[in-house]
Amino acid sequence: MSSAQNLIFLGPPGAGKGTQAKRLCARLGVPQVSTGDMLREAKASGSELGRQVAEIMKLGGLVSDEIVIDLVRERLGRADVAPGFVLDGFPRTLGQAEALDRLLQTLGKDLTHVVQLEVRDDLILERITGRRQGETTGRIYHLKYDPPPFADRGEGGERLIQRPDDVEEVVQPRLALYAAQTAPLVAYYADKGLLRRVDGVGSLDEVTQRLYHAVGL
Ligand code: AP5
Repeated sequence: MSSAQNLIFLGPPGAGKGTQAKRLCARLGVPQVSTGDMLREAKASGSELGRQVAEIMKLGGLVSDEIVIDLVRERLGRADVAPGFVLDGFPRTLGQAEALDRLLQTLGKDLTHVVQLEVRDDLILERITGRRQGETTGRIYHLKYDPPPFADRGEGGERLIQRPDDVEEVVQPRLALYAAQTAPLVAYYADKGLLRRVDGVGSLDEVTQRLYHAVGL
């Protein structure tokens, strides 16, 4: 049997998926596959795909299954995922989860764990509106909980940006979409015996320790 670590991170917007996925990837030596980051890169590059998805993302909607499945198929076809991968923000619908099952079967890969990061809705707004990201490195900060060295600059002096969907009026639609489209995946993966619930409330390091324990590290 393969020793590859192939994981999925599930959780509402702002739960800390990106933050914890980066830490776990560094620990395991595997790449983070974030569909949100891939779509934001497409947007920043000014590609046709980027233009198609920009407005949907800004309003907190879901990009079509077809588009994100194509992105993930291409990404998981690369050689660097041989030791494993952490999927962050994918799958987000039952259709995406079923497509992923078919893709992994074709690639001869199995999922090892599906981590559900649990954070109550009332904590999400503060996490999302306080988030800032390094313009070049993508390093995630929080103005209160993981503050950057300067108010408007990150490590190395890089400029900090705020995502256009990180504003109060877009948080509610994103949470509603998560409840309607993505939360059903919790039962889908629990039925397969893959689900690992992790309490996402606490300091960043406390959550990391719980995560490592949940995935047997
Ligand atoms: P995506 O980028 O995936 O966004 P998301 O799922 O909404 O998740 P976030 O990135 O907002 O949050 P996170 O859980 O990673 O939290 P983070 O670690 O940053 O998707 C964006 C958009 O792309 C979607 O809306 C959609 O349009 C499109 N898209 C992407 N994938 C798609 C798909 N599969 N299908 C269709 N459309 C798709 O943490 C948040 C903040 O909290 C940070 O500031 C952090 O510092 C702070 N924080 C983290 N942990 C803690 C803690 N323990 N205590 C206090 N603060 C903390």
